[in-house]
Amino acid sequence: MPQHLLGIGDLSVPQIERLLEAATKFLAEGVAPAHRKILANRTVVNLFFEPSTRTRASFEIAAKRLGSDVINIDVAHSSLSKGETTLDMLQNLQALGAEAIIMRHAEAYLPAILAKDLNAAIVNAGDGHNEHPTQALLDALTIRQHRQRLEGLVVAICGDIAHSRVARSNVFLLKQFGVRVRLIAPPGMMDNGLLQDGVQGFDDIQDGIHNADIVMMLRIQKERMQQSQIPDPGNYFKNFGLTHAKLKSAKPDVLVMHPGPMNRNVEISTELADDPQYSVILDQARLGVVMRMAVLQWVLAGKMG
Ligand code: NCD
Repeated sequence: MPQHLLGIGDLSVPQIERLLEAATKFLAEGVAPAHRKILANRTVVNLFFEPSTRTRASFEIAAKRLGSDVINIDVAHSSLSKGETTLDMLQNLQALGAEAIIMRHAEAYLPAILAKDLNAAIVNAGDGHNEHPTQALLDALTIRQHRQRLEGLVVAICGDIAHSRVARSNVFLLKQFGVRVRLIAPPGMMDNGLLQDGVQGFDDIQDGIHNADIVMMLRIQKERMQQSQIPDPGNYFKNFGLTHAKLKSAKPDVLVMHPGPMNRNVEISTELADDPQYSVILDQARLGVVMRMAVLQWVLAGKMG
């Protein structure tokens, strides 16, 4: 059975701990020639059906740091346009030697459905609104790096919760680690299904970030909305955009996170996004590489630490 990573539910708490430790070790060791032996002569395929900058590059860099060959499929120019099914495409990539397929797709649950018919390890790099497990792992790593712990922290996630795979994977991970999770969204952008096991919901950002240790901002997922659902950016910024002024109600040493890509002056002010006193946004991107090294080592070499 291949080791897939389709969602946070595929990992136990001790396994998440070990992956975080493995990533921290990779970080401490820096770019090391010895790492290149870990996945030498292995083949990783990046298969992104939705746009991506960070996640795709991060998986590619991680795979290369571990010595594996990486192939990036240009989906727009693939044989899908000739009528091939996605499963046929994946089975052919597997026949060519793909041992891990990093997959992003607009359709929720598709990676899990396809994984059933594949021997290659499938790593979900975002499936529709459903999950983005490596983002939640790198977010947890970022919080740990800055706060040394997760337990007991108040993490407020704000924005388009309903369409956010980042929010979902983060909620699933953080609540298992004793984090007090708050979700803040305008009416129509909340996912009430996530408001359980102590996860609190707010429709006012000021209330939601009160005394928070971490505020995580999200992009409006326009690509998953009908035109009529898309809010006016100016209004949205006024009510839900994070600024220095609004942040005053959070803890004085609050950290501001964003998975990227951010829309400046829509969900976060440009001044705050660029303020190194609060913003750890580029740290998230940086730590994504070592986190994905840990994940690839696990799915392909069966090693967690
Ligand atoms: C996110 C995604 O694609 O889910 N980006 C990312 O992977 N860092 C968030 C987004 O697109 O808003």
